[in-house]
Amino acid sequence: MRILVTGGGGFIGSHLTEHFLQRGDHVVVVDDFSTGNRRNLEHLESNPNLRVINSDLGKTACVQEACHDVDAVYHLAAAVGVALIAKQPTQTIHRNIYPTQLLLDELRRHHLAGKPIPLFLASTSEVYGKNPKAIWNESDDLVFGPTTKPRWSYGASKAIDEFLCMACVREHQMKIVIGRFFNVVGPRQSGAYGMVLPRFVEAAMQGKPLMVHDDGQQTRCFAHVNDVVYAVTELMQHPQCYGQIYNIGSDSPVSILDVAKQVISIVNPKTSIEFQSYTDAYDEDFEDIRRRVPDLARLKKAIEYTPRYLLADIIQDVWKYKQRNAG
Ligand SMILES: NC(=O)c1ccc[n+]([C@@H]2O[C@H](COP(=O)([O-])OP(=O)(O)OC[C@H]3O[C@@H](n4cnc5c(N)ncnc54)[C@H](O)[C@@H]3O)[C@@H](O)[C@H]2O)c1
Repeated sequence: MRILVTGGGGFIGSHLTEHFLQRGDHVVVVDDFSTGNRRNLEHLESNPNLRVINSDLGKTACVQEACHDVDAVYHLAAAVGVALIAKQPTQTIHRNIYPTQLLLDELRRHHLAGKPIPLFLASTSEVYGKNPKAIWNESDDLVFGPTTKPRWSYGASKAIDEFLCMACVREHQMKIVIGRFFNVVGPRQSGAYGMVLPRFVEAAMQGKPLMVHDDGQQTRCFAHVNDVVYAVTELMQHPQCYGQIYNIGSDSPVSILDVAKQVISIVNPKTSIEFQSYTDAYDEDFEDIRRRVPDLARLKKAIEYTPRYLLADIIQDVWKYKQRNAG
């Protein structure tokens, strides 16, 4: 197969790329390395089956070139991370919507010409916004805060991507699977854009205090990137999954304070925890989500899926990666 991975120079995209290359596929990566890193692909670059297009996907010519002669597309390129979103809301909205529109236009052209190309869209748990339900399933309402608070632009822009995809499914029966990722973590994730686990591990390694936002009682479910890559690629193997939306991740909630405590006990028991207000961490407009837990019933009905990694394993993996790549 020839596979296009947009955002393949990023954290999850580089793991997907590696998976396909190991399987013997040819992979075209499009990435402008805005938040990704060329180092994520360094170990793969000698593979003749990999082609990297260093370009912004928000250009028609780039999208046309990237989609030429591919058998499937995994669309992960996006502006990611709460810190980035709070600082650059215009970029977030633009990067998350416009390239998806161009990609869907191109895939629709192929589809109408008799060459349907299946698409996976990486969406996010952020589309549920602040829905007050304890566990979110794919049919639940999207509950966003006001447009005066930029953090909601991430979830809203990804929701527009989903609407665009569902419109293509409805109008043209295009083969599209949407996956809503819940806190994916693992080697190669950058802490530079507000992601909590790499931030904590880096701080512990440097002997600095772990900065926990607010009271640390927010809960999240952390999934190892290998489990997520498995789920994504499995879903795309099953034609009955086309036109569907799936939560993807782990459904074991843990408080951020407990994550900090586990990182300290595994990486460096001499470090400590400090608490920081959202206003100091982001800005005074910042609004967080207290609890974020997916209902995985639909995913487990579609494919064999049990997350294989415990949080302690994930912390070990991230730590080992950072030790190998220090400096
Ligand atoms: N990591 C998570 O926990 C998580 C959670 C929910 C959803 N997601 C989604 O998964 C996808 C991948 O996220 P990630 O964590 O690997 O982030 P990442 O920042 O590491 O990857 C995104 C990649 O897209 C590239 N990119 C962004 N805009 C581009 C453009 N216009 N043209 C070309 N390349 C562009 C970036 O350089 C980067 O390499 C994103 O769509 C994100 O919304 C991730």
